[in-house]
Amino acid sequence: MAEKGLEITPANGKLGILLVGLGAVSTTFVAGVEAIRKGKAAAIGSLTQMGTIRLGKRTENRSPHIKDFAPLADLNDIVFGAWDIFPDSAYEAALHAGVLEKSDVENLREQLESLKPMAAVFSQNYVKRLNGTNVKDGKNKMELAEQLMADIQRFKEEKGCERLVIVWAASTEIFLAPSEVHNTIEVFEKAMYDNDERIAPSMIYAYAALKSGVPFANGAPNLTIDIPALTELAEKNNVPICGKDFKTGQTLMKTIIAPGLKARMLGLEGWYSTNILGNRDGEVLDDPESFKTKEESKLSVLEHILQPEVYPELYKDFSHVVRINYYPPRGDNKEGWDAIDIFGWLGYKMQIKIDFMCRDSILAAPLVLDLALFLDLAQRAGMKGVQEWLSFYFKAPQTAEGLYPEHDIFIQLKKLKNTLRYMMGEELITHLGLEYYD
Ligand SMILES: NC(=O)c1ccc[n+]([C@@H]2O[C@H](COP(=O)([O-])OP(=O)(O)OC[C@H]3O[C@@H](n4cnc5c(N)ncnc54)[C@H](O)[C@@H]3O)[C@@H](O)[C@H]2O)c1
Repeated sequence: MAEKGLEITPANGKLGILLVGLGAVSTTFVAGVEAIRKGKAAAIGSLTQMGTIRLGKRTENRSPHIKDFAPLADLNDIVFGAWDIFPDSAYEAALHAGVLEKSDVENLREQLESLKPMAAVFSQNYVKRLNGTNVKDGKNKMELAEQLMADIQRFKEEKGCERLVIVWAASTEIFLAPSEVHNTIEVFEKAMYDNDERIAPSMIYAYAALKSGVPFANGAPNLTIDIPALTELAEKNNVPICGKDFKTGQTLMKTIIAPGLKARMLGLEGWYSTNILGNRDGEVLDDPESFKTKEESKLSVLEHILQPEVYPELYKDFSHVVRINYYPPRGDNKEGWDAIDIFGWLGYKMQIKIDFMCRDSILAAPLVLDLALFLDLAQRAGMKGVQEWLSFYFKAPQTAEGLYPEHDIFIQLKKLKNTLRYMMGEELITHLGLEYYD
């Protein structure tokens, strides 16, 4: 344990948050931060802004806000940048996304209009349902990465940023399995020169970020930075990374409820999840190849939490089905149904039904903020490579090779808070508590 904590460089100067994709999630995030800075809204849903952390014994009554405990960047020091395949400003994109009321968008018009996306690295081979004009040209994938690196450098200079963080909040790409071109930095770079189809646009952004020393979070289920070549590059260049796929709506509910059922040793026969959503994300996921990427990410959660191999009488062969249906009238207001078939004492069957009428981007926006602030903190604390303590935010948390991910949201939260205590040189909390009874 780091008794004195890690040495953390102070958060002086501006932090640039570069968003890949300026769609529903990104514009809701930017608008939210702008509204909070104007004092018009509270950062609801954000652990960094609203959460507290207990320090020491329960009798000490020390529970500061996380933002007062860890040296996070101040919201007033954040500047935004973005890339998108459509040239629309954040103002137009927010209106198109239809998440926020028109009046809320109008109130922030000036700030949102000033955020215009840079040209994207994109190919329709990876997102079949989209086609845009604001796209870079390059003779190979390495040249495209170099153009992104130039964008990153220019943005940093023009905006006078001390530090940067990049968050992927662009569309879900088609499913790609890890293969030999993803194994080492050398073969990965050669594959970029060769325009190998196994190098997706998201990997080109991730590569450009790491080469520029910029932390990278992956909010979508794409493989992206979860490959040995890029985790190795992150280690080598001292850059923290994390992913994949923001844990919002239905999977958030799953990782809240499943640990509770398991805690009480209640059995599970099946869990059927279906969603309707009508935003651009829903349209992209209507393509079977993009849906497969999402499905893999959503399905892994229950197996890991319930551990059927450890509890065969309770969880062996439970049926788990996930469906997403594109249904335009609902826009970003997703409705997710879960039909959960459980069994208890003597095998008697019971059912739980959930109908979550959620707002996808309202749930995702605070996650973008927290991830950007925590990744920036991690980098200033000298942490590099995969940041497993940020699993809390993801459906398919990235881990060290060979390690299964921790999906239980309560374990994830403990891990996150203990990591903050460790960084700051505070005692870790085990919840043993025997000393209160001595
Ligand atoms: N909202 C949630 O709750 C949630 C949860 C988990 C994951 N996600 C993921 O986050 C991502 C963003 O979701 P959204 O609702 O904002 O989607 P969206 O369709 O509104 O926005 C995505 C944007 O990315 C742009 N884009 C696509 N490919 C690009 C590229 N190569 N470079 C730059 N821009 C590109 C699109 O033009 C679009 O504007 C999706 O992959 C989604 O699956 C969202």
